[in-house]
Amino acid sequence: MSNAPLVKTPTAAHDAARTHVKFDPQPGAALAPRAPFQATEAPQMAAQGLWKRYFKGRVEIPVLRGVELEVRRGEFVSIIGQSGSGKSTLLHLLCTLDVPDQGEIRFQGQRIDNVSARRRDQLRNKELGMIFQFYHLLPELTALENVLSPLLIAEGAWSYFRRRREHLERAKELLDRVGLSHRLKHRPRELSGGEMQRAAIARALVAGPEVLLADEPTGNLDTRTGEEILTILRSLNESQRLTVIMVTHDRAIAAQADRTVRLAQGQMEIA
Ligand SMILES: Nc1ncnc2c1ncn2[C@@H]1O[C@H](COP(=O)(O)OP(=O)(O)O)[C@@H](O)[C@H]1O
Ligand SMILES: [Mg+2]
Repeated sequence: MSNAPLVKTPTAAHDAARTHVKFDPQPGAALAPRAPFQATEAPQMAAQGLWKRYFKGRVEIPVLRGVELEVRRGEFVSIIGQSGSGKSTLLHLLCTLDVPDQGEIRFQGQRIDNVSARRRDQLRNKELGMIFQFYHLLPELTALENVLSPLLIAEGAWSYFRRRREHLERAKELLDRVGLSHRLKHRPRELSGGEMQRAAIARALVAGPEVLLADEPTGNLDTRTGEEILTILRSLNESQRLTVIMVTHDRAIAAQADRTVRLAQGQMEIA
């Protein structure tokens, strides 16, 4: 049994990136620290024998062919692989946006690959946070409203409005922590790429997820802005022990995680 720290010593690039981003690594009231990592703990997220194929007309496109993955609470794992290797497909299965043809996905010991639509909504709106390369913010909502939107969906209008003040405080605190408190009322088209990704991170965190799944979160950003986003993800991982599963095709970005695995020929390899 090892008590070795999960978090690697930050690299020089990582340190440099820290100086460009306003991010308070101290846990705030809305983001309580999690229990310390236990080496003996069962995986928080596990994929077993995952198969997924698509059909284009009658042509079968096998994408995942028996993928195995285990991620422990508090880990920061990168998944790399060439374009088209199935990284997004895998992430969509892990966050229940799609279902595998075969295999099982467990989250905190419970299967989530075969659950009801209601349970899937609950998982996606509360327990699993998602961020994407192209942010997927709602264009007609402000940054603040985008961050609040999962709470409105998860709670329903009645409960949401009853707790509106508390929710507003939390959303503003998160936007402040990702360095966006000066852009609360801006709509996505009035924000830069990095600002949109910051808003998307705050939105992914607002319901207090256990795991953050990120699909090429820096893929559409310049190098420095990408580093800033990565600094935010690392800080969340380090200060809150938030589990992060990040997909990227960029080895330098991937190398900043605790561990990297590679998806190739539909299977998982140690990178
Ligand atoms: N809905 C779909 N229908 C048909 N083929 C798809 C669909 N989604 C993805 N694919 C194909 O599956 C493969 C893996 O896609 P994807 O998971 O997006 O790869 P990556 O994220 O690693 O670039 C690609 O060849 C892609 O064209
Ligand atoms: Mg992809």
